[in-house]
Amino acid sequence: MSENRIFWENEEKKLDELVQQAVFPGGDKAIARLAKQGKKPVRELIQKLIDPGTTFFELSRLAGFGMNYPGVPDIPCGGIVTGLGKIHGNWTMIVANDSRVKAGTYFPITLKKHIRAQTIAERCRLNCVYIADSGGAYLPMQAEVFPDENHFGTMFYNMAKMSAQGLKQITLSTGGNTAGGAYIVFMACQSVMIDKLAYSFLGGPPLVKMATGEIISAEDLGGAKVHTQISGGADHFCLNQDEAISRVREVLSLEPPQKLHINKYAEKNPNVNPDSVYDIMPANIYQGINVREFLKAISDESAFYEYKQNYAMGRGDNLVTGKIRIKGIPVGVIASNGVGIIFFEAARKAAEWIVRCSQDKTPLLFIQNSPGYMIGSESEHMGIGKYGSDMVRAVSCAQVPKVQLVIGPDNGAANYGMCGRAYKPHFIFATMRTRTAVMSGRSAAGVLLSIEQRQREESGNPMTEEEKQAFREEMIAKYDGEAHPFYCAARLLNDKVIKFREIRDWLSMAFEVSLLTKIGEPAFGNFRF
Ligand code: COA
Repeated sequence: MSENRIFWENEEKKLDELVQQAVFPGGDKAIARLAKQGKKPVRELIQKLIDPGTTFFELSRLAGFGMNYPGVPDIPCGGIVTGLGKIHGNWTMIVANDSRVKAGTYFPITLKKHIRAQTIAERCRLNCVYIADSGGAYLPMQAEVFPDENHFGTMFYNMAKMSAQGLKQITLSTGGNTAGGAYIVFMACQSVMIDKLAYSFLGGPPLVKMATGEIISAEDLGGAKVHTQISGGADHFCLNQDEAISRVREVLSLEPPQKLHINKYAEKNPNVNPDSVYDIMPANIYQGINVREFLKAISDESAFYEYKQNYAMGRGDNLVTGKIRIKGIPVGVIASNGVGIIFFEAARKAAEWIVRCSQDKTPLLFIQNSPGYMIGSESEHMGIGKYGSDMVRAVSCAQVPKVQLVIGPDNGAANYGMCGRAYKPHFIFATMRTRTAVMSGRSAAGVLLSIEQRQREESGNPMTEEEKQAFREEMIAKYDGEAHPFYCAARLLNDKVIKFREIRDWLSMAFEVSLLTKIGEPAFGNFRF
């Protein structure tokens, strides 16, 4: 076994361990508590909701770790499960509260994750199913989750807008939906409630008693019978979770089949063993890679149809461009090669390729492994700023589906040019080799140390060698920690940390889902010549 493979298998074991914590909050005790209430763990419900034998592509399982909210250091899985699955053959976005995490209440990260799922759904024209079981806003943090845009109200605004566009919003209520949370039931196109399990009201019994003196049980105030027989706020009455799941599937059974807006070829396996990625990816994050070998491992028949292969060798090929197929879907590729520093020739080539792919309506895959654009007088004089901006302009304006896969350093403006979060890729996937930060720990330590040294010298108290070393080490630890895929995933700076062997499955899902909407016509701003 190669040293690289041993290293990456071990890194992915750490990923497995953290995922385990995310998906079993509270352990067996919490599952037993759910069972007593007549509830299944949320992922079991989802597996019954999607077509038998199909996969649930769960997003952002590491969300919420280490957020250090007041009194609550970790929010496993962000307290909410989101992901894509097929219902009657149609890709559907599923958003489900996990009541094992603080009664499914919404922390800032819970909201961010819920809204991110809705954003994907709206963009890709997916119906949504909400499995609602939440105590609403996490009250100690109301100022951070209630009043602003992208806070609580945005979830319901999104439901209204999507349903107006014909995207079905279906709610299965299987627990508490109090105050603002009640709107997830009432705003749905159709909602299903479960007898003696689901409640929905603008104010719960304690608040009602306080405000009006009325003493009433939750069931009589806003249970399934009340809303399906009296208020009309919900549409389907079910006796248990199994029946409710079947009802949601029934409601979605007459939805028209989705159509892929691209010519999909027959799916072929790579000729090279896809597992070879574990051997070819250097354990050292900043060591150069041979991305052509990587492409062979992830593409159908290991075929890479390269564009401008011989252009500006040694500088232009720090980015390679071309086309591959992923499970039959043709994809335009812009991939960092070697150490991935982007010279102006590479930026020009990439911008040109992005425009070409936009014109022939080929989706784009950015394989990011770049510490930044080339600096220094030669590079500046040759127009690295200008050509880098053209690449960023092309990335911003490309109207085709875009997916970013990060397999190494992801620093500086290369994050922009290679379609980082601000450039709205349809999906971002990280790996255990991803490091996303404005610059590497080593570079950041150097810059910050020079500032600190100058200030200390000016104040007549120059730094000792020991102080400099301690400062350097502290900064490297901070920057490298914040660049780590776990740190970024906790904050939803990517949509999922995937294992190397999962790359093809996730890319093919992402492109398929992104291609359910028709690709528009290209339109680019002014390039400089
Ligand atoms: N804000 C902060 N914490 C909350 C909360 C909220 N809105 N709702 C529940 N919690 C916490 C509880 O304090 C408890 O914390 P602990 O485990 O540290 O003790 C944990 O979540 C579990 O709550 P619990 O009441 O034991 O769960 P349950 O399954 O028996 O009941 C609810 C769930 C949602 C019916 C119930 O918690 C409830 O009515 N919550 C208040 C809902 C509300 O009024 N929300 C208004 C906000 S818009």
